[in-house]
Amino acid sequence: MILSTVLALVLYGGPFAAIPTCLLVFLISFRLWAFTIKPILNPNEPKELPYWIPSHALEFVKNGDGVITRAQKYFKNQREPFALTVGGQKLYFVSSPDDTVALYRNSATLSVDKVVYDVTNIFGVSKASCDKFYEAPESRDADLAAQAIDMNNADLKPLAHLNMIFWKEQLVPGPRYNEMLAKVSASISSQVHKLSGRYTRSTEKDGSKIVSLLELTREVLIDAVLRAFFGDSLMELNPNVIDDSMQFDKESWKLWYKVAGARSMLQAKQRLLETTQTWLSLPEERREGACDLVKRLIVTERAVHFPEKDIAEMMSIVIFATNTNTYKAAFWALAHLVEDPQLLQRLRSGEVAAAAKLDESEYLQFLADSCPLLTSLFAESLRVYTNSHSKMIPVNARVMVPYRQMHMHDVVWGDSQVFDAERFERNPKMLSSTSLRPFGGGHTYCPGRFLAKAEVLILITRLLSLYDIEKIDDKGFPQADLGTPVAGLMGPLDGEDVLLKLTPRLHS
Ligand code: HEM
Repeated sequence: MILSTVLALVLYGGPFAAIPTCLLVFLISFRLWAFTIKPILNPNEPKELPYWIPSHALEFVKNGDGVITRAQKYFKNQREPFALTVGGQKLYFVSSPDDTVALYRNSATLSVDKVVYDVTNIFGVSKASCDKFYEAPESRDADLAAQAIDMNNADLKPLAHLNMIFWKEQLVPGPRYNEMLAKVSASISSQVHKLSGRYTRSTEKDGSKIVSLLELTREVLIDAVLRAFFGDSLMELNPNVIDDSMQFDKESWKLWYKVAGARSMLQAKQRLLETTQTWLSLPEERREGACDLVKRLIVTERAVHFPEKDIAEMMSIVIFATNTNTYKAAFWALAHLVEDPQLLQRLRSGEVAAAAKLDESEYLQFLADSCPLLTSLFAESLRVYTNSHSKMIPVNARVMVPYRQMHMHDVVWGDSQVFDAERFERNPKMLSSTSLRPFGGGHTYCPGRFLAKAEVLILITRLLSLYDIEKIDDKGFPQADLGTPVAGLMGPLDGEDVLLKLTPRLHS
């Protein structure tokens, strides 16, 4: 049949019709083979979403969420693993909670290492340093990193794995975490008292201030975290470091997907690198305020002879990883809160009022474990604004977990599209549901999850107890940027923000 069509077109359409005709025939045969015959011959292989133009790469980079949703609809929402072809290789998607649990359990450390190795190398750390990072020392005598910090590395783990221990020891509740949290809390509280950042658009006669919510969440939270991680000297060296990191952050996906011509992102990345390089060259006493994690990273990387430029790249990665998501959670939580006066009032007269009566250490403990409504508002912001993309977890192939689709599954969540701030207060068990994955899982489970929640809750409680809050623009609710492929949370689309009037409350 195909042959007779070709003959007819060539004979009656003239010789020039032969080229497009052959192409058409090739495409039809390819589709028939790849998406009909092959799946019948290999019934246990995940099915692939059919395509005409070779690969889903363009569509995936432009709107990852859209193509994954389209695939799920195509496969009738059965939540079976499926595949897409991106950049010449197959990506497998796993979206049922059970498959995800199994995947995290079975993904070998080695294969996760390969992904983190690639990401670190793409970021700009030399191949030689990446190799050293993953090279296990042959003996205790050869274990320069552990010796440099006087650590007992009995299993002779490579530095990359020691790093994961350093992150956990800094950010999972314990003495190091408490010290960091106290600093973060003090910075946020002081900023909220003053409201003097660039996010303030104007000050009214009655002392109230008009602020940009997006800029406020960014500046207040990133400033607090940068000071807690690096001491004050980093911000002193480059007062624009937050802008630089945000400018990089906005288009950082272009680095991971190797998009050509991303000049402004690369320039911002270069400015970040210059800042961390200069910071590293300061005498040690000027870097005294840095947290233990940062100090251990520097000492161990120097011990295994990383060039200073690579250590500076590693510090830029720290800046990126610690700040790319949390302000977005705060932005969405507050944007929803100001739309719902009843919820705002419930919080103010309940958990916020109770928190305001506590001394600092009781206050931080109270936020961590006694605020079901604030916790619910935070978790709902993560559920609704998580992007599709997780890091690829290679088992025998590259597998991704489209978190967003799990968070938007009606069978699990009911009205999944609705932002319901009280959802997790009514049903706290859902906080540990395997269908809720804002912080990823497995070997790369986010170590910053406790700090992230604390940052957002500190900001909300301090704002609500010090100010009456009113939305003053008549723009609709800000639209989320569903298109940009980020790992973690979506921000708002360009130009989407909320202007707030913050009026000091009489008692405060
Ligand atoms: C609401 C805020 C946050 C969200 C939604 C979030 C989400 C995530 C996710 C999804 C991953 C896994 C990425 C992957 O495997 O592809 C991750 C990893 C990571 N996060 Fe977070 N994160 C948040 C806040 C933080 C904070 C505050 C810090 C540090 C202060 C942090 C530090 C890290 C680090 C270091 C990793 C890499 C872990 C590894 O590869 O071993 N995150 N985060």
